[in-house]
Amino acid sequence: MSSRIHPFPFVKTVILSCVLFFLVGCTMGPERKILPTFNKEPVSQRRIDLGKTLFFDKILSHDKTVSCATCHQPEYGFADPVAFSTGVSKKPLARHTPHLFNIFSNSSFFWDGRSPSLEHQALQPIPNEDEMGLPVKEMVKRLKQEPRYVTEFGAVFPRSGVTAKNVGIAIAAFERTIVADNTPFDRFQSGDTKALSASAKRGMDLFFDKKTNCSKCHSGDNFTDSDFHNTGLFGEDLGRATVDRHGQFQMRPYPFFHTQKAFKTPSLRNVSLTAPYMHNGAFNTLEEVIEIYNKGGQDPESYGISLDIKPLSLTQQEMKDLVLFLKEGLLSPNKFNAAMTH
Ligand code: HEC
Ligand code: HEC
Repeated sequence: MSSRIHPFPFVKTVILSCVLFFLVGCTMGPERKILPTFNKEPVSQRRIDLGKTLFFDKILSHDKTVSCATCHQPEYGFADPVAFSTGVSKKPLARHTPHLFNIFSNSSFFWDGRSPSLEHQALQPIPNEDEMGLPVKEMVKRLKQEPRYVTEFGAVFPRSGVTAKNVGIAIAAFERTIVADNTPFDRFQSGDTKALSASAKRGMDLFFDKKTNCSKCHSGDNFTDSDFHNTGLFGEDLGRATVDRHGQFQMRPYPFFHTQKAFKTPSLRNVSLTAPYMHNGAFNTLEEVIEIYNKGGQDPESYGISLDIKPLSLTQQEMKDLVLFLKEGLLSPNKFNAAMTH
């Protein structure tokens, strides 16, 4: 008997996958509402509250000086107003602290997507020497010594109580409540034609036009394709290629080498609250970001730059309109501020 694998099942699988991809693609449009994917499984308020308490508690850091909220500050859109945050080591981190709006809809975490879930991600900064510097075992020991945590973990997780895994589960439950919805853009999409000013409306049309290509990457409900792209910024950070080594050494044309200096497309909801921008916090204003896109990137010759990044030849008015769409159109009325810190 021949040991060769018959090609047909393989071809069929490929064709079937293509059809499936197409069908899934058809259901993803900017007009879809954001809420259906929110809180897929019912989660108790007590679990969310426990996660929130942990998020703001400095007990999770080695010297009790740093909490998640030291870098992910609610009053700055759960990001940090400085380009590079500092944690327990006081050394500036290598990348800019990202915002956490609608983080529930992300499929990978960190600028290079190296973490697969919010539950997994939450346990990364705690033992990280530069961020919180507290070994996970040490963290569990500490929490077990606090009667308030023993009570709360016992109530939320009756079978397991205080464990590292439950810390991740509780923090993730809280993070999933950080939602930016009901923006003027959402209201416009559901028929309220007065929700956007004339300029923001022109900006929206430009954003979704082939002329700018913005919505090719900033796509779907959350203005992100959850993929990684090189937008032609200066810097030596290899981005996704540090995780996806295969892509780093690809010599074939785009998209094969697209992991080189590629970073995860950020969601743009509430983007006006989260300056500075990009993985390296290089730009302080949205005006600067748009100017760079208009030029086709800082470094249009960058190796592996996305074919979707090209000089745009926008007029001054068009750039203003785009900025206004981002500022006015994507700002959620939900308030997250210092009051959240208890
Ligand atoms: C010292 C600053 C600092 C602290 C403390 C910190 N973070 Fe972060 N956080 C960052 C930076 C910087 C990144 C991006 C790192 C990267 O992409 O390599 C990040 C990334 C994230 C992401 C991924 C976001 C995305 O868009 O992919 C989440 C979620 C997150 N942090 C949650 C937390 C939680 C929960 C805690 C507390 C347990 C925490 N962070 C503590 C700085 C910090
Ligand atoms: C090829 C895909 C792609 C296209 C096209 C694109 N973007 Fe981006 N955008 C990204 C990626 C990836 C980042 C993060 C890049 C980085 O940090 O290195 C980003 C970052 C941003 C940021 C900063 C957000 C933050 O939180 O730091 C804004 C604002 C933005 N883009 C708006 C736009 C607008 C407006 C357009 C159209 C003119 C556009 N983008 C076109 C992929 C794209």
